[in-house]
Amino acid sequence: MSHTWSAKDQKNTSQPGAVGQKRPRNDTGNKVTVVLGAQWGDEGKGKVVDLLATEADVVCRCQGGNNAGHTVVVDGKEYDFHLLPSGIINPKSISLIGNGVVIHLPGLFEEGDKNDKKGLKGWEKRLIVSDRAHLVFDFHQVVDGLQESERQAQEGKNIGTTKKGIGPAYSSKASRTGLRVCDLLGDFKDFSTRFKNLVHHYQSMYPSLEVDIEDQLKKLKEYAERLRPMVRDGVYYMNEALHGPPKKILVEGANAALLDIDFGTYPFVTSSNCTVGGACTGLGIPPLNIGDVFGVAKAYTTRVGIGAFPTEQLNAVGELLQTRGHEVGVTTGRKRRCGWLDLVIVRYAHMINGFTAIALTKLDILDVLDEIKVGVAYKLNGKRIPHFPANMDVLHKVEVEYETLPGWKTDTSAARKWNDLPAKAQNYIRFIENHIGVPIKWVGVGKSRECMIQMF
Ligand code: GDP
Ligand code: IMO
Ligand code: MG
Repeated sequence: MSHTWSAKDQKNTSQPGAVGQKRPRNDTGNKVTVVLGAQWGDEGKGKVVDLLATEADVVCRCQGGNNAGHTVVVDGKEYDFHLLPSGIINPKSISLIGNGVVIHLPGLFEEGDKNDKKGLKGWEKRLIVSDRAHLVFDFHQVVDGLQESERQAQEGKNIGTTKKGIGPAYSSKASRTGLRVCDLLGDFKDFSTRFKNLVHHYQSMYPSLEVDIEDQLKKLKEYAERLRPMVRDGVYYMNEALHGPPKKILVEGANAALLDIDFGTYPFVTSSNCTVGGACTGLGIPPLNIGDVFGVAKAYTTRVGIGAFPTEQLNAVGELLQTRGHEVGVTTGRKRRCGWLDLVIVRYAHMINGFTAIALTKLDILDVLDEIKVGVAYKLNGKRIPHFPANMDVLHKVEVEYETLPGWKTDTSAARKWNDLPAKAQNYIRFIENHIGVPIKWVGVGKSRECMIQMF
């Protein structure tokens, strides 16, 4: 029999140092490790998180929704995660979907069931969902498509969203008409009224929007019961995790710095903060608890969707990177646009996130090139600019200054340590490290878990 979920249901496991307990001034509790995309997404965050998750107690998602697509390859089996933290693979760790995430419930259960069939058993018992997370409804996804058509008709271009309802759901959240997990699990009559009001609001803007309200509510009621056992007060849960016995806590960023709603290439961005602040606001954790911040960057650059891309190569190099790198979106199946590594954007991502180290992925894709270019600065009217332009018209006009490095023309896919890499590949890695001013901790040379060289 179901019951209405309440905070009282949670075991009172208050630890010394938790809120309400006396805490020494210098005891900030456990530190959280954060993994973030340093480019335009698809850098290989899933793989880096998987690597760290083998030792993690808690793996959290703090923002975004199922617009993300994170690939993890373990024992030859490929998993793709969209809403579930990639750490869900580890049977010993808890996965948490924080308040900053927007959740499409049909998408969540479809993803879980699909992975269950692949052998990922017991995921529902390892998943915790914050009661403060906002919901993405089917109509948000339809509205996402309608808004894209509207942009196309009005401006001759759209954003190229994933049509997962991310923009409309975060808009509902910001306009204070959104509905959260705690609303769904509370008084269903009240939830139904607010749901209807929200549908009517969108129908007044988009008269062609058809919603079978009764059918939607029936389905949502069923999802509510399946979700109920997983729901907790996320803030309380995190506080207990931070101030209890030593725990390894990992945050898996979705999307990436250049897609951040504040710092990205606006308006060709997503609708959440994919930079380090999103870890605090999306989970309710104090900044003092942030420990390592690992940036993930590909050894070249890709972008899905529309928007400026200064180092894009619309030529044979771009095609080679696309085909060798299998650069196809995990969520939408779209071909990713490809170009040379742009260190201006990685440095910009570092300014915002303060990376403590970087994971450089997909070095192996460059194995066949005679020479490799790296974008090191932007010039406007012949003069170097020290900042990353906010205005997209300006970004479209910048001229990229490149450094050309020799290619190594050697298969690196079997390299497992620094000394296994050819000298010219080592030179490429050191060049990047020196230019960004952040140590490179891992180098990826293949899809699977073991294809990651750890430098220190
Ligand atoms: P995410 O969204 O940042 O988690 O990245 P995606 O999963 O969308 O895209 C990264 C793709 O690159 C996936 O297909 C990974 O399996 C693959 N990948 C990750 N690291 C490496 C690497 O070092 N070498 C190669 N060849 N593929 C990699
Ligand atoms: P991961 O976590 C790559 C892009 C979309 C589009 C823009 C807005 O796998 O790195 P949205 O549906 O969020 O409103 O789309 O942002 N985008 C991504 N591109 N990787 C992602 O996530 C992305 N999430 C959003 O392609 O251009
Ligand atoms: Mg991806």
